[in-house]
Amino acid sequence: MAYDSLHDFVQKLAAAGELKRIAVEVDPILEITEIADREMKLPQGGKALLFEKCKGAQFPLLINAYGSAKRMALALGVENVDDIARELGGLLKAKPPTSFKEAIALLGTAFELRHAKPRSVKSGLCQEVVQSKPDLATLPIQKCWPLDAGRFICLPLVITRDPDTGARNVGCYRMQVIDERTTFMHWQLHKTGARHWRRYRELKKRMPVAVALGGDPVYAFAATAPLPDGIDEMMLAGYLRKKSVEMVKCGTNDLEVPADCDFVLEGYVDPEEKLDLEGPFGDHTGYYTLPEPYPKFHIERITHRRDAVYPSTIVGVPPMEDFYMGTASVRIFLPVFQMNFNEIVDMALPAEGVFHNLVVVSIKKQFPYHAMKVMHGLWGMGQMMFTKIIVVVDEDVDVHDTREVLFRLCANIDPDRDVIFTKGPADVLDHATPVMGFGSKIGIDATHKIKGESNTRPWPPLIEMDEVVKKRMDELLRHVAR
Ligand SMILES: Cc1cc2nc3c(=O)[nH]c(=O)nc-3n(C[C@H](O)[C@H](O)[C@H](O)COP(=O)(O)O)c2cc1C
Repeated sequence: MAYDSLHDFVQKLAAAGELKRIAVEVDPILEITEIADREMKLPQGGKALLFEKCKGAQFPLLINAYGSAKRMALALGVENVDDIARELGGLLKAKPPTSFKEAIALLGTAFELRHAKPRSVKSGLCQEVVQSKPDLATLPIQKCWPLDAGRFICLPLVITRDPDTGARNVGCYRMQVIDERTTFMHWQLHKTGARHWRRYRELKKRMPVAVALGGDPVYAFAATAPLPDGIDEMMLAGYLRKKSVEMVKCGTNDLEVPADCDFVLEGYVDPEEKLDLEGPFGDHTGYYTLPEPYPKFHIERITHRRDAVYPSTIVGVPPMEDFYMGTASVRIFLPVFQMNFNEIVDMALPAEGVFHNLVVVSIKKQFPYHAMKVMHGLWGMGQMMFTKIIVVVDEDVDVHDTREVLFRLCANIDPDRDVIFTKGPADVLDHATPVMGFGSKIGIDATHKIKGESNTRPWPPLIEMDEVVKKRMDELLRHVAR
């Protein structure tokens, strides 16, 4: 289901009993975070919050809109995110790919099948109002945590094009405000936006950038999804909302933005301009990321809808709203992992592992050291390369039940035999690696051991009650007063 605007989604949230309106004035400097953080820490992620009066700004702010399994599904217009995974899995199984490259091409075809291709239109509500002088101070941009270097735009859709192929990329990269028309652009080393920027630098060409905020909530989700470089996130958005995204051209460059979004910041990055230190910023990791050099984004024009709502989120000590976004990505893309590794049964990135720190994967084990094959495979797949700890368990383990995973982990491993260390690219946000962007990884095989895995003893069975006795006792207990 497609939403016409973020405003439309706000109404849907309200109708579903999933929205709290905050009518008193609240300061985007720290105060919104304190209220939103308390809400995000409630069981099942609390409610979405609409701050109607943001101190010093002209627009309301929506936060925690994706912050529960129910709201994440609502944002994608489905009852349950697994429905999307099932459908995508079915499409991909129709013609199983023979290589990763083919799998990616197939993903593109699957999106096109739904007529999900973005469509160019001549005008859009996002251009209803053109600010006579671009001024970020009109937006309720948060300073999230006390040691943050300033205010940060936390849920932007950063739109760039590959200067060689023209392929569009839409990534969610935080933007630290420098002044009323300049921000930093925090595309990290391994992300597609950064690759485009490095290519513009080689070509010594100014890089057009457009930043869209809001619109159908599916857009921001698509911008955070780990799509392979070269696949347009607006195609995924169209596929998910079952309707092509209408794109309108910016006024100051040739980039296109979703016509229904709430705000558009048009501008450029000059790849030859000196980098400056961005950050610190209270991050997904639960710690502040240290200042690092990043390029600046110069804003030439700001446009917005008349009924614009500013979308935001906060990241910090888990669980936070982004856990639900990350989980939805994993659910939706599980069929893609399974296409490459048909032994994978399920996968979970627990909230405590803040995305890449911990991946638990269950497999249908078929041969000695099978778990290690899966670990190496995952470390070689896109953003999975950042994973610090991979735990492989047997197919009968519920990877979403951390207690069960810990039980199997502790029970089934002989550390010397079952743990491997390796090295590779790391999340640049990880403060624990000795150097930025590179670190060690650990893989733990918590599956049952079989012949050929340096195990000289038989593996004992797991304690389980006899099914017939269980059924009999179910029946018996029904008659026992509680
Ligand atoms: C709330 C939120 C904020 C994010 N901020 C950043 C960021 O500042 N820089 C970054 O490189 N990735 C950030 N990410 C992760 C990227 O959006 C994600 O890796 C995405 O897949 C990148 O897209 P790309 O592969 O097109 O570059 C953030 C994700 C979320 C959910």
